[in-house]
Amino acid sequence: MFHVNLLLVFLSGLLPKILGSAADDLISIENEFWEWRLDDSPEFATLTGDFRHNDRLRQFGVDLFKPRNDKVEGFLKRVNAIDANDFNQKQLADYLIFKDSLQTYVDGYKWRLHNTLNPVNFLEGLTANPDHFVNTTPFVSRGDFENFIERLQNIPKQFSQYKDLMREAIKQGNTNNNVSMNAVPGQIDERLVDDVTKSIYYTPFITFLDESSVPDNVKTGIRGRAQTAITGIMEAYRDMKSFIQKDYMPNARTTWGVDGWKDGKGDYEACLKWHLSLDMSPKQVHDKGLQEVERIGKSMNETMKAIGFSGSIPEFFKMIRDEPKFHIHSAEVLLRKYEDIIYNQAFPKLDQLFKDIPNLPLAIQMMPYDGAGGEYLSGTADGSRPGVFYVNLRRPEDTATIDMMSLALHETVPGHHLQSIYALSASLPNYRKFQEDSNYYQPPLKFPFYTAYLEGWGLYAEYLGEELGLYDNDYILMGRYGSEMFRACRLVVDTGLHYFNWTRDQAVDYMLERTASSRTDLEHEVDRYMTWPGQACAYKIGELKIKELRERARQAFGSSFDVKEFHSIVLENGPVPLHVLEMLIDNWIKNESG
Ligand SMILES: *[C@@H]1O[C@H](CO)[C@@H](O)[C@H](O)[C@H]1NC(C)=O
Ligand SMILES: *[C@@H]1O[C@H](CO)[C@@H](O)[C@H](O)[C@H]1NC(C)=O
Ligand SMILES: *[C@@H]1O[C@H](CO)[C@@H](O)[C@H](O)[C@H]1NC(C)=O
Repeated sequence: MFHVNLLLVFLSGLLPKILGSAADDLISIENEFWEWRLDDSPEFATLTGDFRHNDRLRQFGVDLFKPRNDKVEGFLKRVNAIDANDFNQKQLADYLIFKDSLQTYVDGYKWRLHNTLNPVNFLEGLTANPDHFVNTTPFVSRGDFENFIERLQNIPKQFSQYKDLMREAIKQGNTNNNVSMNAVPGQIDERLVDDVTKSIYYTPFITFLDESSVPDNVKTGIRGRAQTAITGIMEAYRDMKSFIQKDYMPNARTTWGVDGWKDGKGDYEACLKWHLSLDMSPKQVHDKGLQEVERIGKSMNETMKAIGFSGSIPEFFKMIRDEPKFHIHSAEVLLRKYEDIIYNQAFPKLDQLFKDIPNLPLAIQMMPYDGAGGEYLSGTADGSRPGVFYVNLRRPEDTATIDMMSLALHETVPGHHLQSIYALSASLPNYRKFQEDSNYYQPPLKFPFYTAYLEGWGLYAEYLGEELGLYDNDYILMGRYGSEMFRACRLVVDTGLHYFNWTRDQAVDYMLERTASSRTDLEHEVDRYMTWPGQACAYKIGELKIKELRERARQAFGSSFDVKEFHSIVLENGPVPLHVLEMLIDNWIKNESG
């Protein structure tokens, strides 16, 4: 490493014209940044398929904020010094996205004593869900097992670093409300075992070690060291549980939203900006939400009238829940119905709105775990692994048939599958290809991951179903509105809780009166909003932005507006911040609308 760096410095001094072109400079800073990212976030490196850091865990500490920020500021300075004047559209987009990524982190530094001091909550992390940590690690060679044991040995240290952060949160008065914490002690209890070979952390040593290439004479030693490490983890879990109950929860924030923190309103504004990748104030987001709730409510009322249903919106959805004809009891039939929707109804209509659709496969499969009703997982760029739409078939009757169209459009085509195959075909630099889609508690001090673009597109895809005539009866249309209304309510409620002094009950009641969900589900939802300020606003705002840009282009181009070209520009750059998307569309309008 050291020598390679020296050599590059030396060479670039000798040959500035060749190695020093602006585009090469950008790529070389991006590569250096990426190496640093992987080294600094070993768990994330593992997820990207880079296994060089599999023996380590990320370090946490109040004293680490500054060196990390210094490092990122260093990259940012170098990128800012690049002359982007001669960049083509693609290079310019990349330059702007890279700068945005670094700038977002540096902007977040100001808020280092806020959200990011609270790494433990009921939605994520090793207390809520250690399965992911285990399942994303490779277990083939002896080195894989040795590395994993080192990671296990380091978990108690990571927990102790978490506690240091949480003590600082207490000191600053910037803690979570205990709706984010109440479930955690119980979650920890689920992880505690007397026999360490029953721990989730031990499963690889049962499932994979025997079949691995590891020599038999070292297997016993490996198992013994794993057991010792897991004994240490159990100790760390007990200690964390006691810390949360005795030290943290009595100091939980007493306001529902983060507006109770020091400069909490400013922090929430920063969280919103981070998640939206746009400059919008809480008031603007709140008002947008109210408008959308009103608009969708009107459409629902009209549709219910057309159906001849005279009750309220929640009564309509209760009727749907109770009426057997809107539910399917056979897993097999449910899966066939999704296949029909996707292959026979949605796919044949895509060429009305899209061109040059990459030829990469989609599979529809049973979900191997008990998650949401449906989820999408990207495939590979070479098509060797298809994109997969996973359907939860454990309780097929839970899915109302009126919701299937919008869900299918959202997850597959023209939604996440279509989005993903365009992005996979775009050959993006690593820092854009892989985003650290975890540690949701950290924003605004975190590198961005573009939920507003990704989920905005998903919701926009549900809307496209209307243009394509895919909601072909009023019940299915109500299913679509129900799904849209849910995202619209989030704008009102999230800003309400964190900025406009709403209570938890007020938020739950607001959604209960307008959506298809039960009180219990909504309480869980609202607790999520309180835990991840601003995150839930990304979906609806992203969709509205895409619609707004499309309308802007339509007006500028007039009768020569080509919706297929618009969609290509939105999709072919892969995930981008919305303000960069806006610039791309504005450039297109400027250069080509005459
Ligand atoms: C919730 O937080 C308060 C601080 O406002 C604390 O005193 C209380 O004990 C916590 N409640 C529970 C159930 O732990
Ligand atoms: C929908 O209809 C209900 C009942 O008639 C009414 O109270 C509500 O204001 C209507 N909502 C909208 C958005 O028009
Ligand atoms: C916020 O609401 C609470 C009641 O839930 C009230 O006691 C408090 O005064 C309100 N704060 C502001 C700033 O309006």
